[in-house]
Amino acid sequence: MSIYLTTFLVSLGISTALGVIIVIADKLLSNYGECTITINDDKQVVVEGGNSLMSSLFEKKYFIPSACGGKGTCGYCMVKLPDEDIPLLPTEEIVMAEKDVNAGWRLACQIKVKKNMSVWMPEEYFMIKEFHCRVAKTETIAADIKEIELEMIEPDSIEFKAGQYIQVMVPSVGETVYRSYSISSHPGNCKSLFLNIKLEDKGIGSTYLHKLKVGDTVNISGPYGDFLLTGSNRQAVFVAGGVGLAPINSILHQIFQDNIDRKCLVYFKVKLEEEFYYLEQLSQWKEKYANFSYKLVVSDIPETESFDSGERARITKVLEDDFQKISESEFYLCGAPKMINGIMEYFDKKGIPSDRVFYDKFE
Ligand SMILES: Cc1cc2nc3c(=O)[nH]c(=O)nc-3n(C[C@H](O)[C@H](O)[C@H](O)COP(=O)(O)OP(=O)(O)OC[C@H]3O[C@@H](n4cnc5c(N)ncnc54)[C@H](O)[C@@H]3O)c2cc1C
Ligand code: FES
Repeated sequence: MSIYLTTFLVSLGISTALGVIIVIADKLLSNYGECTITINDDKQVVVEGGNSLMSSLFEKKYFIPSACGGKGTCGYCMVKLPDEDIPLLPTEEIVMAEKDVNAGWRLACQIKVKKNMSVWMPEEYFMIKEFHCRVAKTETIAADIKEIELEMIEPDSIEFKAGQYIQVMVPSVGETVYRSYSISSHPGNCKSLFLNIKLEDKGIGSTYLHKLKVGDTVNISGPYGDFLLTGSNRQAVFVAGGVGLAPINSILHQIFQDNIDRKCLVYFKVKLEEEFYYLEQLSQWKEKYANFSYKLVVSDIPETESFDSGERARITKVLEDDFQKISESEFYLCGAPKMINGIMEYFDKKGIPSDRVFYDKFE
């Protein structure tokens, strides 16, 4: 046997042996056994160690807000760990505001349960429940957008506020993944809720929801979120990007059904005209209520196609053109992070105070 072949075989043997040792060591070291999590000093759950704090709590039906499904990018899943001294993780450093870090908040999706631990979470999280639902209706309402009605089965009703969202438990390969969807219907109907779902190419959650048929069952948790109408009497300007109309639609229902006396203007922005939906509803409201108006905006329509029912421009250009009319308003923005970040930058330049701007980013 040549010296080269012998050297190669010995190296291969050593690296294989090292690989096996690492795998065994990892298994042994990651075997944390059963761990007790004490919640807000007065509740205890026992979980199998080794998983994230968020998924461990979800498994025991303690729900925490999340927009990114545990990927560590939204920063919503904040809890406090009163007795722990775990150094801040690089993922947390990127996402969390300094003031939250200083106040002792941690991201539950990034913390691994390795031993008994204590966690503190805001009382309102305990209001979040799991619901077993049945699909009562599913209908295509625009290109790649379905309206889905979920009827509550167990419990048989849900209390939520206009502007809030739920998380759908999506069965995926060997695990459950969580995706957030805003409720588009009025809280007055607590027996069912409506969702507006945009199909994303190869998207796990949106594909699952688009494939559902009437009669199928779905598990959700909620309600979550604080994208809510304030009590101010300033003009409310809503900017909806695509399915970002969902929570805004719910808030508009609240305004009209509760006779809230407030001037409202909606900018409904899509890339292509076929993505508009609920236009009949918007038009009826405009006819009926003198304090309501809306503007349709398309950003990517080809110049060769005609579009005369609204503006063909970037949303910030349209806001700039209307600035005199809207500068003293409260703003409610909902849709893709890119659109919201662009508008926030624009508002910053225009000196709009951040306490008059509310947003829900569909991360
Ligand atoms: C508070 C909140 C409210 C929301 N409300 C709504 C709502 O009302 N309606 C709505 O439609 N959405 C809403 N969203 C967005 C929603 O939660 C999901 O992010 C969205 O549906 C995409 O999830 P998904 O599982 O389908 O895609 P994911 O599986 O998470 O994929 C994300 C992206 O990666 C791409 N991708 C995934 N796998 C592959 C692959 N193998 N190859 C190439 N590309 C890939 C997909 O195209 C997709 O664009 C909301 C989000 C938040 C945070
Ligand atoms: S769930 Fe999004 S950062 Fe934790």
